[in-house]
Amino acid sequence: MQLIKNLKWRYATKKYDNSKKVSEKHIDIIKEAIRLSPSSYGLQPYKIKNIKNAKLREDLKPLSWGQNQITDASHLFLFCNSIEVTDKDVDDFIKLKSSINKIPVEKLSSYGDFIKTKLSKKSEIEMFHWTAKQTYIALSNAINACAELEIDCTPIEGFEPEEYNFKLELNKEGLNACVLLAVGYRHNEDTAQQATKVRKGLNKIFEEI
Ligand SMILES: Cc1cc2nc3c(=O)[nH]c(=O)nc-3n(C[C@H](O)[C@H](O)[C@H](O)COP(=O)(O)O)c2cc1C
Repeated sequence: MQLIKNLKWRYATKKYDNSKKVSEKHIDIIKEAIRLSPSSYGLQPYKIKNIKNAKLREDLKPLSWGQNQITDASHLFLFCNSIEVTDKDVDDFIKLKSSINKIPVEKLSSYGDFIKTKLSKKSEIEMFHWTAKQTYIALSNAINACAELEIDCTPIEGFEPEEYNFKLELNKEGLNACVLLAVGYRHNEDTAQQATKVRKGLNKIFEEI
């Protein structure tokens, strides 16, 4: 199966060849894989920032445990989860669904109310974790899209989210810095590419009950 081959091919790239840039055509495909990602109720409670400013990437490096991928990869995506999902967000989603699926808004209003009721029961911290979980599904699809395109990438949690939030004023947008994805082409001196994958055996992660 191609997906399994891709998963064996990919690895968390440690050293990028900073002379190689990913084409915008390929970036668009990665973005589309993110856009098509499933999310709970379909709310997509996240935003992805494509950090293009080289100086900003330099400034973010010390906030990211000094990791070289922050500056050396061709592209750097910051996946931000929404701090909260408001009734207005649900209304906007219902309107979008109404126009795309050609269903009158009135017919969807009880579904919208159901979502609002369910979300209102979440505490602030539950909401925060819930939107972050949705964000990781999008991240995962981006990683798989990269692998299919034979583009290298690194998911990165090794950074200070609070410092990112402050520097990029993310809280003003109702966002939190959740996880990064560096995207580019491996350096031929990156020794990590030769490492055998370390994974638990199937019997350690699956159980029949
Ligand atoms: C959410 C997440 C965060 C990660 N953060 C980092 C990171 O900050 N720096 C890094 O070099 N690798 C990071 N990794 C890569 C993992 O260490 C790597 O995926 C794991 O060791 C398995 O190796 P492989 O991806 O090369 O198969 C992260 C992976 C995930 C999924």
